[in-house]
Amino acid sequence: MQSGIVAVVATGGTIAGTAARPDDHVAYAAAQLDAEALVAAVPPLAGQPIETETLARLDSCDMDHATWLRLRARLAALLVRPDVAGVVITHGTDTLEETAYFLHRTLAAPKPVVLTAAMRPATALGADGPQNLLDAVRLAACEGARGVLVAFGGQIFIGAELRKVHGWRLQPFSAGDAGVLGVMADGALARFRDWPAAPLHAAAAALPPADRWPAVEIVTSHAGARGVLVDALVAAGVRGLVVAGTGNGSVHHAIGEAARRAERAGVPVRRASRCQLGGVVGAPPGALVSAGTLTAVQARIELVLDLIAADRARA
Ligand code: SIN
Repeated sequence: MQSGIVAVVATGGTIAGTAARPDDHVAYAAAQLDAEALVAAVPPLAGQPIETETLARLDSCDMDHATWLRLRARLAALLVRPDVAGVVITHGTDTLEETAYFLHRTLAAPKPVVLTAAMRPATALGADGPQNLLDAVRLAACEGARGVLVAFGGQIFIGAELRKVHGWRLQPFSAGDAGVLGVMADGALARFRDWPAAPLHAAAAALPPADRWPAVEIVTSHAGARGVLVDALVAAGVRGLVVAGTGNGSVHHAIGEAARRAERAGVPVRRASRCQLGGVVGAPPGALVSAGTLTAVQARIELVLDLIAADRARA
């Protein structure tokens, strides 16, 4: 452990959720408790140097770009303080991988920024939030830790690699083929891999207000697909598109033809996979531009950042 304060920033989610009955894991209200209450529910954290603040109270399916910008600004202000060892963000599991990827790409994090969450509400008999929060705080106080990380279910993930692969299992996350960064064993980190490298093209510069972010949408390829969604999105003024293709990024010919029309209209298109693991390998002749190992939701964020950079270069 390194000395210093750990700041716990709450944004909502099931970890802060409450239900009428302790055996109810489904019909609960997310985002009810504030950061102070979450920390107070973890007895080993009593008396530790922790600051709490509640930045948002969102069910993370409603996460939005404006909240991301507020969170990023708040984190930057906390990380620059010499007395802060690291930051923990409590969040919903549903879009955790998107927030983690966004922060990884846009925030300089020489100290640990640890996201955590829960699959069971705080009122559940076997609530998983308190242990996850304890692990996250311990990780955020770890000497030498850095980068955007996720502590969940006793495992530590590199934030940019996280993906939610199950809708309701107690451990819904996967680290993909690279595997987890480490595990929390008896309260201490056992690390198998190096800390995440700072992203090469971190969009660390100012980002425009959320209402000026380019609109980028995701279209899924499937049996019987038509190009109408792509055409409608282009007509509606979308600035970029991600196609979540089948398997290794293959795309139904009707969507592929519509995607080419979009490109001719000046709308860049990226080809990802609707499979959560593996990404897209290789580039067959004539294929749409590959999103590589990124999931479709990560590819969407990447394309938003590319378009923001292009707008900035043009301005
Ligand atoms: C949410 O993502 O906010 C609700 C679901 C969850 O946290 O597991």
